[in-house]
Amino acid sequence: MSDATDTDARDGQTDAALAEFIRRLPKAELHLHIEGTLEPELLLELGRRNGVDLPCSSAEECRARYRFNDLQHFLDIYYEGVQVLVTEQDFSDLTAAYVRRVAADGARHVEVFFDPQSHVPRGVPFADVVGGITRALRDAETELGVSWRLIMCFLRDRPAAEAMEMLELALPHRDVIAGVGLDSAEVGHPPAEFAEVYARAREAGFVAVAHAGEEGPPQYISDALDVLKVRRIDHGVAAIEDEALQRRLAELRVPLTMCPLSNLELQVTPDLSLHPLKRLLDAGLVVTVNSDDPAYFDGYLLDNYLAVQRALGLSHADLAQLARNSITASLLPDARKAELITEIDHVAAGT
Ligand code: ADE
Ligand code: ZN
Repeated sequence: MSDATDTDARDGQTDAALAEFIRRLPKAELHLHIEGTLEPELLLELGRRNGVDLPCSSAEECRARYRFNDLQHFLDIYYEGVQVLVTEQDFSDLTAAYVRRVAADGARHVEVFFDPQSHVPRGVPFADVVGGITRALRDAETELGVSWRLIMCFLRDRPAAEAMEMLELALPHRDVIAGVGLDSAEVGHPPAEFAEVYARAREAGFVAVAHAGEEGPPQYISDALDVLKVRRIDHGVAAIEDEALQRRLAELRVPLTMCPLSNLELQVTPDLSLHPLKRLLDAGLVVTVNSDDPAYFDGYLLDNYLAVQRALGLSHADLAQLARNSITASLLPDARKAELITEIDHVAAGT
């Protein structure tokens, strides 16, 4: 028997009412590259401010380039864009704009990735990157009530020795950097290359997460668990190809931070109706919805919830479960998680 909780949330509801329901659900965004929130308008402004030449001279021209064949095609444009980020103020402006935007979507907590290797080798001091991002996050916490954690990612297509150097630079900032992650071009760069860096990072008290199974095989997900000992998998799309792995992820309650619009734009999935998010949710995995690089993939957090709702016919109960999962999978203390989950239960019950 089906009841109102497992029917398509769009049935009998306007798009605006559905968006409002999702917006009111307290949510955490757990997979977000701060450099991927660089909207063309700010890209152009910072390019002018810092005297950096860009391949586009209007926001429309920049946006017209955002049609990606695959992850590498996107990364080439993304790494070109990061060059305009030079001063502490630039990182602060970038971060402030993102938190304002995601707070409007009903995010109550954000876990923000940054890529020091995109900045430090260009001569930007590590302390300026971290200082600018954290200044904006602290201000947003006070003004908007959005809590935060910061996660430093290593670029997996760069040598592990360089990642180790970044880790050394991060140690004095251990009070504001909660974790380490692994991003950039996945195929041909298996997790095992970073075993030593991750061991050292965990020893120093950093939480471990890693991108795995975005374009890479399910084996990279298993390796991230076994070798890097991560507590979360970023993306994890390839888990759909391996039922034993799905059972393992469900039993261990290892969250997947999925990014539907990113997967669509980078041709990881040819159509959102084929995205594995709902199948993995139904298989009992702790699946979450996130935006990855929203300035490039044409959608922030709420847009991603709405897109999967529409493509996969998610119910109100599914949407509330995704919001609950985002809180459960976060690095928040248990007491705060319990408060936010109680709020979600009230919104879901209409009380
Ligand atoms: N860096 C920024 N976005 C990324 C993604 N989707 N995958 C891997 N590395 C990234
Ligand atoms: Zn990512």
